[in-house]
Amino acid sequence: MVQGEVMKVGVVGLGYVGLVTATVLASRGNELVGIDIDTSRIEALNRGRIPIVEPGLDELFRQSRDRMSFHTDFSRLGGCRVVFITLPTPTVDGRIDLSALIAGCDGVARHAPGCDIAIKSTVVPGTARMIGQRTGMNVIANPEFTREGSAVMDTEKPDRVVVGGKETSRVEEIWAFTGAPVIRTTWENAEMIKYASNAFLACKISFINEMADLCEKIPGCDVEIVAAGMGMDRRIGPHFLRAGLGYGGSCFPKDTEALASYARERGTRLSLVESAMDVNSRRILHVADAADRIVPLKGARVALLGLAFKENTDDLRGSRSLLLLSELLRRGAHVTVYDPVVRYAPDGVYMARDLASAVEGSDIIILATEWPEFRQLEKMALSVPVFDGRRLLNPSSFSNYSGVGYSCG
Ligand code: UGA
Repeated sequence: MVQGEVMKVGVVGLGYVGLVTATVLASRGNELVGIDIDTSRIEALNRGRIPIVEPGLDELFRQSRDRMSFHTDFSRLGGCRVVFITLPTPTVDGRIDLSALIAGCDGVARHAPGCDIAIKSTVVPGTARMIGQRTGMNVIANPEFTREGSAVMDTEKPDRVVVGGKETSRVEEIWAFTGAPVIRTTWENAEMIKYASNAFLACKISFINEMADLCEKIPGCDVEIVAAGMGMDRRIGPHFLRAGLGYGGSCFPKDTEALASYARERGTRLSLVESAMDVNSRRILHVADAADRIVPLKGARVALLGLAFKENTDDLRGSRSLLLLSELLRRGAHVTVYDPVVRYAPDGVYMARDLASAVEGSDIIILATEWPEFRQLEKMALSVPVFDGRRLLNPSSFSNYSGVGYSCG
């Protein structure tokens, strides 16, 4: 492994991945230039304000502040040896939209012609090769595997570093501090590793959600126990077997869709991935129906706990909770929401300031995001029905508990 050397490094696109990548690399002594087209974001960062909630990021950002500068102008990238691209690659009409990524790479090629371009954004196979041909630059596919909510830790201690391309040594050098095994491979393999990983994890979640549906039909069954028993088999593993409202966020839904359509365009069908998407799309109705059976939702006062797409983040993109909220409103429920960090509620919805006031006077409590704070419900001696959409709570702490995949008691 090459020993880490301090370099001038650029990061283009300062969303969740870009900000964490930039901060972690600056904390390792690199001189960091961050670029984004959003002027207000750049101004906030230059005033020392981080616009996202991500555990550990604020502190690391403060410690590394004097090695970081933020701009909207690509010319500031001059002299960078490596520029990471962390721009969004949304799915539009079922297909990946690479326009922001291409524009960003063109900007880098114009203003930092001697650098390596490392693509961290999730892109379909062939993209890094195409960018290399288009710009004449040395391009490396360097996918990231960090999860929001634990992104700093995941970036500092990844399970592996994947580098695809012809000349990858500078990028390897930058990540050498992680001590992670390096997979050095082709552009296309690197790009596929990322997609296949996300698609597999999405399949794992949909698999356990189907098992949860079946467990609900079998008195005495609890999907949590089934998953724990399965997970002890090392060939299966315990992770991503949490049944619930389905997978949300800015990655799995868009990546499964983009990969499935990419495969179809190449004459092959990813029937497992498509089925996982199908199972996921039915979760919200399934949970709303289950709640409706406990308390008819029309006119009911519902306390909906959690709005973020998962715990430890304020990110609402692809939030399953927001989808469930729309469904509850559509069925005529009066909804009060509470989230430990999200402070915005859609029109017509009351946002409680704390957990106790959110559940007070409700006819049913529905837990939609796996925030650890919600475990406080276990000590509240509640008599109102609780529906655990994330299987976070201990059923025996409640007199009227139901949850996804739970058919005991
Ligand atoms: C995901 C991947 O886990 C990362 O490896 C990847 O780098 C990232 O996408 C990306 O492509 O950028 P993320 O979307 O941040 O990370 O969050 P996850 O922890 O994977 O959760 C995704 C969704 O699945 C959440 O809605 C979560 O509640 C749900 N989930 C997760 C379950 O329903 N069950 C589980 O067992 C695990």
